[in-house]
Parts: sequence; C-alpha cells; structure tokens
Amino acid sequence: MKKYFALLLAGVMALSLAACGGSSSAPAAPAETQKEEAAAETPAEEKAEAEAPAAAETAGEIKTIEAGKLHMATNAAFPPYEMISDNGGFEGIDVEIATAIAQKLGLELVVDDMEFNSVIISVQGGKSDIAMAGLTVTDERKQNVDFTESYATGVQVIIVPEGSDIQTVDDLANDKMIGVQDGTTGYIYCSAKVADGGYGEDHVSSYPNGAMAIEALKGGKVDAVVIDNEPAKAFVAANDGLKILDTEYIIENYAIGISKDNPGLRDAVNNALKELIADGTVKTIVDKYINAEN
Ligand code: ARG
Repeated sequence: MKKYFALLLAGVMALSLAACGGSSSAPAAPAETQKEEAAAETPAEEKAEAEAPAAAETAGEIKTIEAGKLHMATNAAFPPYEMISDNGGFEGIDVEIATAIAQKLGLELVVDDMEFNSVIISVQGGKSDIAMAGLTVTDERKQNVDFTESYATGVQVIIVPEGSDIQTVDDLANDKMIGVQDGTTGYIYCSAKVADGGYGEDHVSSYPNGAMAIEALKGGKVDAVVIDNEPAKAFVAANDGLKILDTEYIIENYAIGISKDNPGLRDAVNNALKELIADGTVKTIVDKYINAEN
C-alpha cells in the first residue's frame, strides 16, 4: 500500500501540474513572443480549438443551464467544503467560493445537492453548470469534464476508533473492512486489486456520504474510514472515540468540473477563480473554515 500511496502521489502531482498547464503558474512571456505565438498556431492550440468548437459562439456571453443562475452540483455532507447550515441553507468553502464566482459573472448561485457519485454526471448531462464538491482532479474524470485551476489540496487519511489495532496504512491489509464514500478517490484507491496496491472490492463498503461511513465505523460495521483530511477532522471533532491515523498520505488537488461542451463558461469560471485566488478572497474563505494551526 505504501508503494501505491507513493505512486499515486507522484501520479496525482504530475496530473495537477498538467492541469495547471497554460495557467498562471507559467511565467508570463514577453508581449511580443505572445503575439508571435498567436500568429503561428501551435498544434496544441489547434487541438484545443478542435475540441472546443463552441468557443466562438459563447465568447462574450456566458451560457448557463438556467438564465441568470449558476447551478452547482455538490454533495453537501462534506464539511468544511459543503454542508447544510443550522438554518437549512448551504455553507462551506466551496459554497462561498462558488458564490463569489457567480457574483463576478453576474449570476446567482443555486446549490444542487445530490450524491457525490452524481456530480460529474449532472454537469455532463447539462443538469448543473459546475461540479464543486471537494472534487479531486483525476485522469479519468478529465475524460468526462474540464477542470479549472486547482483552488485547494486534499489529503486522504484514515479514521479509526481509538484503541484500534490499525496503526499504519499497512495494517489495513490485515483483512479489515474499510468504509468510504461512494465514487470518491478514497473508494478508487481502496477498492483497487491487491496487486494494484488496493485492498480489493471485498474489503470496501461504500456509503452515499462521509457521515454515513462514520456512522458505520461507530457501529462497528467497518474497521476504518478513508476520507479527505478536512472532513475527517470535522467528523472526528463531532464524534467521540475516533482518531485520525498519523500515517502516509495521498495529496490531491481540488478543482471545479465544467462541461466539455461549454468552454465559454469554463473560461469565465476559471478566470473568475484565478482572480479570487490572486486577490486573496479564496484564502480568506479557507481561513474562515480551517484553522491555520490544524
Ligand atoms: N476528494 C474526493 C474525491 O474527489 C472526495 C470528495 C467528496 N466530496 C463530497 N462533497 N462528498 O473523490
């Protein structure tokens, strides 16, 4: 498993670098070079155009599934990124960042709460505009949606009951049952075949959301839960008798997924997000929900 974790880490990091390609992470070229590049189209640019025929049509005007609204597909059981507030509304880091993006685009945010498994499908099927759900960028998901720049990192961690005999990732291999959220990267890693570094489907129980996986852990139905670090902290803080293992981690990048059929919206959302990162808004929102010392 350790090897797999390390391997995945390398893969995810390479992937995140690729995801950032052409973004603000690249040093700005002098104006003239940029002009030359624009004149002589590179194969990459031609390819991008071929994949995005609607770009010209949507330039200047942002198309969303409902006029004046920005529909965000999420699974609001993932604190502190998205959760239901005491008054029954939605709150969290993703909700606030999405609200700020919508504001910049002159749109009103609408949160579409669903199972995590459905958020990408909802965007692909034109039922929601953006998927924002602590959503990790993976190669497979990149086949289905376009991703913006990353706005946060997540780390897969292991939650066990206090006093558990599971002390390291390797202990998960000792015939344990692992609870995960359905369709998440935690599920993908853990359910992989043993030969591929996972524990096999038989050792994994999927739940519609993290809270239900935690309930299963408390009820002794599973021996551990693999989930992203920030929700893990929130769940452990809210439930007695659980702890997060101080062990090896998989680092992932969270980004917003947008339909491949709507490059106009993708660019508008990505630009708005970049501005909100650059002017410190994203950091202010993150700091509101996550203590620096955590
Ligand atoms: N980062 C993980 C993934 O993308 C888990 C995300 C779960 N998000 C949620 N809102 N329930 O697979």
